[in-house]
Amino acid sequence: MKSTGKDLLWWQRGVVYQIYPRSFKDTTGNGVGDLQGVIEKLDYLDELGVDALWLSPFYPSPMADFGYDVADYCDVDPLFGDLATFDRLVTAAHQRDMRIIIDWVPNHSSDQHPWFLHSRSSREHPQRDWYIWRDPAPDGGPPNNWGSFFGGPAWTFDIQTGQYYLHQFCPEQPELNWRNPELKAAMLDTLRFWLERGVDGFRMDVIGLLIKDAQLRDNPPNPDASPDLRENDLFGRILQVYNMDQDENHVIMREIRAFLDAYEDRCAIGELWGPLDRWVKYYGETGDELHLPFNFRLMDGMSWDAERMRASVDALEAVLPAFAWPNYVLGNHDRMRLATRFGGPAQARVAAMLLLTLRGTPTIYYGEEIGMENVAIPPEKVQDPQGLNLGFERTRDVCRTPMQWDASANAGFCAPGVEPWLPVAGDYGQHNVAVQERTSASMLNLYKRLLTLRRATPALYGGDYQPVDVDADGCYVYLRTASDSRWLVALNFEHAPRIVSVPGESKGRVVLSTHMDREEPVRLNLLTLRANEGVLIALE
Ligand code: NOJ
Repeated sequence: MKSTGKDLLWWQRGVVYQIYPRSFKDTTGNGVGDLQGVIEKLDYLDELGVDALWLSPFYPSPMADFGYDVADYCDVDPLFGDLATFDRLVTAAHQRDMRIIIDWVPNHSSDQHPWFLHSRSSREHPQRDWYIWRDPAPDGGPPNNWGSFFGGPAWTFDIQTGQYYLHQFCPEQPELNWRNPELKAAMLDTLRFWLERGVDGFRMDVIGLLIKDAQLRDNPPNPDASPDLRENDLFGRILQVYNMDQDENHVIMREIRAFLDAYEDRCAIGELWGPLDRWVKYYGETGDELHLPFNFRLMDGMSWDAERMRASVDALEAVLPAFAWPNYVLGNHDRMRLATRFGGPAQARVAAMLLLTLRGTPTIYYGEEIGMENVAIPPEKVQDPQGLNLGFERTRDVCRTPMQWDASANAGFCAPGVEPWLPVAGDYGQHNVAVQERTSASMLNLYKRLLTLRRATPALYGGDYQPVDVDADGCYVYLRTASDSRWLVALNFEHAPRIVSVPGESKGRVVLSTHMDREEPVRLNLLTLRANEGVLIALE
């Protein structure tokens, strides 16, 4: 529950904003967003008040998984610009005191990466072992029972060399062999390339998958597999035991971290799931692994439920060692939009206050600041391999649609007459940045107020967290405190008003309500929260 000290680093004090470059702003007229588009929107991001931008992959890629299939770790796909544009982006962001975090995809490359082309060219090629190749099982089938996250087996047979290669995502995403020292060195070199270009941190894709069981044993069946799983959903039918989160993975994490630590002030963020006791190990025993293992616990499998949210935060706080800094993610390019998932705009507003007032680094997904909702994608427009293979209802395209900038054609994302790579939300005429900038109580202005308050308030960006037991059901109340600055956050998750009595506190002042219509002194023994209202209170 204690903060780690006064001198916080940028990735502790700051707020991260995730940009999915394909969908942010197109400046070239091809319907796909690009890095120049990000540069053009830096002033917007600066005014919004975020501190670091995480860019999803912009590397050269055949786009089988929209950039998570990397064909060159040290370049920019012409769709997005070039290295010179990237350098301009870093400089322009740094001029505004914003950091740049890039996605790094170390578990798999594209099947068009020269390394894989070499590897598959013959069993004798020196880079054969840079990927994971195995002989067929005695019946000629795949070497084990692992399934791909995107459906089908995790193995594809290569006729030319008579072996299978491993891929836990698309067949176009062969997995790198981190047990091979040359591959490891080559991948660390790719980090060096970007570190020397001034990148401030990395978001490391599926980092728990790097090391697999040495014997590649079969995974056990999943006793809780839903009977409704698609026939090709082999992944859902097994427990993920031998394909991820192996103890040896931590050796690699420490090596990656030591490599980053040779550079000043850089940050390692990892995409990780799994039970809390396994997840927390990724901070390292002495804080020598990831700075921030992404925490998805308020997102994955979480309903709009005050008690469950509090339990999740408290469990996290209880398990963190003193050196470990918490973080929270509510949405990203793989999950439903907040307003869609949690019930509607009213819930998304309370969620924004939650995200931006908890102890730890928040990550905001682009478009959440205007409350973007899932966009229904007609079947013929589905692009995501997960949706194409496992059913349109599972497509992640719904949360990757173009940013809604204004009411002009294509929401200002791309030029009129250009077809955006995914459809723009039907209601973009009313639901966009320009309208919300003009509307005082808009979601955008709520985010701006929250971000401004957070940045200006040590208790909020760096103070302690203490949950408060209250007698009103459906409410989550907590204190954030730093020396003499004391704040109370009271969130009503219910569709009905609640009266909360805060034990031990008498008076305070509402500084911000998610309804954005009150700033007033309040008595804390009789605090009224309206339906779906969150308030931020400065305590006396
Ligand atoms: C996690 C990424 O967030 C997701 O978008 C991607 O499909 C997989 N990793 C594979 O790289």
